[in-house]
Amino acid sequence: MIDPVKVLTQRLTDAMTAAAPEAAGADPVVRPSDRADFQANGIMGLAKRLGTNPRELAQRVLDAVDLDGVATAEIAGPGFLNLTLYDTFLGRSAAEVVGNGAQDTGNQGVTPAESPQRVVIDYSAPNVAKEMHVGHLRSTVIGDALVRILEARGDTVIRQNHVGDWGTPFGMLIEHLIDLGEEGAIAELALGDLNEFYRQARVSFDGSEAFADRARARVVALQAGDSETLRLWQILVDLSAEYFQSVYDRLGVRLTVDDLAGESIYNDLLADVITDLDAAGLLVTSDGARCVFPDGFTNREGEPLPLIVQKGEGGYGYATTDLAAIRYRIEQLEADRLLYVVGTTQTEHLAMVFAVARAAGWLTDATEADHVGFGSVLGEDNKLMKSRSGASLKLSDLLDEAVDRAAAIIEDKNPDLDDAERAEVARAVGIGAIKYADLSSDRTRDYVFSFDRMLAFEGNTAPYLQYVVARVRSILRKARTEGVPVPGEDGTAMPEVIEVADHAERALALALVAFGRVVDDTARSAQPHRLCTYLFELAQAFTRFYEAAPILKAPSDAQRRNRLSLAIGTERVMERGLGLLGIDAPQRM
Ligand code: ARG
Repeated sequence: MIDPVKVLTQRLTDAMTAAAPEAAGADPVVRPSDRADFQANGIMGLAKRLGTNPRELAQRVLDAVDLDGVATAEIAGPGFLNLTLYDTFLGRSAAEVVGNGAQDTGNQGVTPAESPQRVVIDYSAPNVAKEMHVGHLRSTVIGDALVRILEARGDTVIRQNHVGDWGTPFGMLIEHLIDLGEEGAIAELALGDLNEFYRQARVSFDGSEAFADRARARVVALQAGDSETLRLWQILVDLSAEYFQSVYDRLGVRLTVDDLAGESIYNDLLADVITDLDAAGLLVTSDGARCVFPDGFTNREGEPLPLIVQKGEGGYGYATTDLAAIRYRIEQLEADRLLYVVGTTQTEHLAMVFAVARAAGWLTDATEADHVGFGSVLGEDNKLMKSRSGASLKLSDLLDEAVDRAAAIIEDKNPDLDDAERAEVARAVGIGAIKYADLSSDRTRDYVFSFDRMLAFEGNTAPYLQYVVARVRSILRKARTEGVPVPGEDGTAMPEVIEVADHAERALALALVAFGRVVDDTARSAQPHRLCTYLFELAQAFTRFYEAAPILKAPSDAQRRNRLSLAIGTERVMERGLGLLGIDAPQRM
């Protein structure tokens, strides 16, 4: 085990259990601390539960705990335990995280989960024949990071892109396609002007009774499986899928056509949903529609809130599809955990879907269902983000602007890069900045989209983190050109124990060994900002280390090797960590 927090937590749990066997379970709560390397905060809570004196309990724990590798262990305040490691313990753990030594795990301390899960993750989910909006961008970016993080922990991740490719709007969309002529429509949609297509269809629908009638008849034909209607529908779906894929490729997210699992695939399962809800006695007819009233949901007036599963005229809706989908994911995909990366505007909808699935017996305690909710993207005026002209925003324009701005900044900072490299760095920085801005704040909150802030080279931004990686790489390049032996290269061994005598070295080592634990926390909580905060702190720890402890001009060969090892560890953890967020780290900037 590499992470001292894990080691200390285990040992303290054992000691607390031995000191207080009557309390079932103990949680020592070990955290990094300013006063020592770590502080255990959980003894006071245990003492309170037992009604004993916390300092006395702390003493008993201290008498029982295995202190191998621990230099000092002191009771502090009302019953904290302050713990500082021997340099060798920390230095060995740090060396393991860096890798290349005898204990190399090759994973910088990210270890497989004890019981890996099958996780079905619903993310991105844009709508056919409509422009993706910034909400879909958030879902896509957060979902992609979670996929990478869960896979790194050994989970089997099944991606489900629940695109909106079914339902009543398709009547008008198909009729509009017929009016434009297939070729005209294909040409228009291939330009990526999906919103315009949708808008025109809407105008015809609202403006012409005859068109509206055709559209309604078309919906019926679509749901009845009419083959010509399905052929026309497929044209819309395919063109949209191509457009979505172009955005995914641009963003460097891992979604492909294989992950498409749109609303339409559940069409054949909807009737069974109704039959089974009925058999379970859950259906109520209200205002002509068939509904389920799950316990605990009420409107503002305190009246029970319905989940409408079949409309008056017999059609099914968004909720019915979600019920069929959750069932499919549990029964067919055999999910242990379900993640829905969907905006918090749909919190109530999903909570009701989960509640109905539970009442129907489809969702049980064997499966964990989590709504990974996120807030809205705001413009700098603190209002929902729109384009400058006030029209809805095109995602590809946003990405273009980020990359263009990044290119200008890079040109200014490093005029020596050739065109090809500059373009590549601008892409990594521009796209990375957008993703990181989204991932680094608590996802449940709204965030303000600001190019200036996300592209700044200072602060908690992608460019700052990428810049720190590039700086380490430039130090390593310099070492190589100067013929300085680089640990792990050309027969120069990585130290088995990294010296952490110096304060700055020690702080950096402590930051490095926390990586695996932070990845665990991020996977469990589905909160990518935890990993971002960690990477930012690691970057700052490196910056302080670099200012305090010269690397290439270190006083001795041994210290230089040591500090180079810490720099290499920083590069590896940062690259790995950014990679888990879907962000590339350029060689130079
Ligand atoms: N297409 C929907 C939208 O744009 C999001 C779907 C989210 N996933 C789900 N299973 N409901 O709002």
